[in-house]
Amino acid sequence: MITVDQQNLVFTLHTRRTTYQMKAGRHGVLLHTYYGPRIRGGDLSPLIQLADRGFSPNPPEAGHDRTFSLDTLPQEYATSGAGDFRLPSIQAELADGSRIVDLRFCGYMVHQGKYALEGLPAFFAREDEADTLTVYLADAVSGLRVELLYGVLEDCDLITRAVRVVNGGEAPFRLLQAASLCLDFLRADLDLITFDGRHTMERLPSRAPLRPGVQGVGSVRGISSHQHNPFAVLCEGDANEDHGLCYGAMLLYSGGFQAEVERDQFDNSRLVLGIQPRNFSWTLDPGESFTAPEAALTCTADGLGAMSRQLHRAIRRHLLRDPWAGKRHPVLINNWEATEFHFDLEKLEGIAGAAAQLGAELFVLDDGWFGVRNNDRQGLGDWGVNEEKLPGGLERLSERVRALGLDFGVWVEPEMVSEDSELYRAHPDWALTAPGRAPTRGRSQLVLDLTRTEVREYVYRSMGQVLSCPGLVYVKWDMNRALTDVWSAALPAARQGEVCHRYVLAVYELLERVRRDYPHLLIEGCAGGGGRFDAGMLYYTPQIWCSDNTDALDRLGIQCGTSFAYPAGTVGAHVSAVPNGQTCRSIPMETRGVVAMAGTFGYELDVRRCTEEEKAVIRRQIAFFKEHWDVIQNGDAYRLTDAFRPGPFTAWQQVSADRRRSLVSLVTGGASSNPPFAVLRLKGLDPELNYRINGGEERWPGDALMAAGWPVPYLPGDYQALQLWLEAE
Ligand code: DGJ
Repeated sequence: MITVDQQNLVFTLHTRRTTYQMKAGRHGVLLHTYYGPRIRGGDLSPLIQLADRGFSPNPPEAGHDRTFSLDTLPQEYATSGAGDFRLPSIQAELADGSRIVDLRFCGYMVHQGKYALEGLPAFFAREDEADTLTVYLADAVSGLRVELLYGVLEDCDLITRAVRVVNGGEAPFRLLQAASLCLDFLRADLDLITFDGRHTMERLPSRAPLRPGVQGVGSVRGISSHQHNPFAVLCEGDANEDHGLCYGAMLLYSGGFQAEVERDQFDNSRLVLGIQPRNFSWTLDPGESFTAPEAALTCTADGLGAMSRQLHRAIRRHLLRDPWAGKRHPVLINNWEATEFHFDLEKLEGIAGAAAQLGAELFVLDDGWFGVRNNDRQGLGDWGVNEEKLPGGLERLSERVRALGLDFGVWVEPEMVSEDSELYRAHPDWALTAPGRAPTRGRSQLVLDLTRTEVREYVYRSMGQVLSCPGLVYVKWDMNRALTDVWSAALPAARQGEVCHRYVLAVYELLERVRRDYPHLLIEGCAGGGGRFDAGMLYYTPQIWCSDNTDALDRLGIQCGTSFAYPAGTVGAHVSAVPNGQTCRSIPMETRGVVAMAGTFGYELDVRRCTEEEKAVIRRQIAFFKEHWDVIQNGDAYRLTDAFRPGPFTAWQQVSADRRRSLVSLVTGGASSNPPFAVLRLKGLDPELNYRINGGEERWPGDALMAAGWPVPYLPGDYQALQLWLEAE
């Protein structure tokens, strides 16, 4: 719900449990007055106190009132060059060379329903589920105008934001930054949590109190990256899983981003989130506009767990466009870790057939099936099937796989080219390369300049040949390197700062076309595992391969970090062989299954090589998952152990919406001698109900399971797991 106090220009956005407020204050400065737990309303601008602060200048309209300074006021969209020295939201180089953007309120509009953004991912909602507020700001001198868009999704406590910058003047200007979100707080006693790591170790949570100055994370890699995720949390210092004020902010964007927080001289703080400004510029001629990607905010006073559940709900209901919505995603078998590039029809059929007998439902053919590709230095760009490996093409494999009772899926990496390929030999200039420079390789491959229409058309046409394969229901869209040599022959020198963003727009355009022309296809996103695991990508690819690391122990941390923002049903997770290819660690099959079940469940090993006991375990795991998948993937998720203080085990829980069914999973680390006994306190149950555990005779009261807990039995050995299936009587 959006309410507007027209006289005082106070705009209040209410979701079920939160309130967000802004006010067009004195001299037309758009002040941020509140974001937090729901309140009745009113005008909260008296919270903002003014004082003459030395070296904080005063805008011309304030005359000699030295208490009014942009440098100290909480604002909705911070300006640059006009007296606010903190993190800006927007920067531009104007026609006269100045870099001053001074924005003032000049109008608003409220409408029912949620705005959409052309060519960009965005949360969606039915007309009756959301409202939009647009606030218009303008820089009087240059004619630069800003439209701030706010979407209010009441049911899941989500406020979305997007920004359109318009050149309403008479001369072109160069936009140097256009953040999607600026959020000011009249406090700085907050912790910042970011999700950081590296290839094969993505999204590990890291938490620290705000210190004076600027802190934050970002990516300059052209992809959202393995190193940092475009999602950040600000929370009270003592906030934990169950208590405390928490704010979650995510950017729906898959390219370079910046998430920064500044704690200022007066212990106020400011979060700015948006496209990475480093190396970014965008020229706007008169009348043109630029749309910054959407950001989404949630807030709760009930701790990090509640924050995650709000985001999960919002993503499931209002972001994923899943052709299998409401249905179980198939349990898949992928051949990558089993074969890498070395396979033929018979081998693939063997793996698929063995997995089918154990209950798998989809065979995904991974890398190496096209062009001449026997290693990762060859073949990308040549999307004709390699008949030596697969006589009869994808069609025959698809037929054989389907004869085994499985659906068929295929891997592609459309954004790339190998120098050793027909495509590169014909069009070396199609790769991102700057004049006179040899291109930098990543995984021995180059990035196609998708900002060029002819390159995009080639990619789309060649994908068309693959995606129209009879029986194909699934495609894994991979991307295995970061962007370098960012220069495009399609753009003049002054516009080269646009290439990275245009690249992301091109990827979105391609994915949107695939969705439109092959609506039945489930697209799995992937970028060397989780290098592009972000809310932007989820709009096109409702599940994403979470990490190239399939070691179950490492996955506990990776998946736990991922769970802070993203729901289990989006997290690609497979059981792979041991010793694990990345860590050389051997973890029991039972445990590998329990960990993979915290995501979209599948296998990635040569099932033919499994022992009979292992096969029996796999059969049981698949049957179990098929029975309980909806609780796992659509239930409310609870982290039962502290992500920031690792203990002897990691535990998590999913609970059905009616709280009658729940799955508890627990995995231990390395064994230690003579260990203490542990009690696991469950969450999210109905205190009034009695639960039966794993179909046994005993009944456990919900209130006791949550308040007193459940006794964790001694589990001898390294990396043991257990699952408790709770069903209310
Ligand atoms: C990286 C992906 O994350 C892997 O799962 C696999 O598809 C390889 N690429 C294939 O090259």
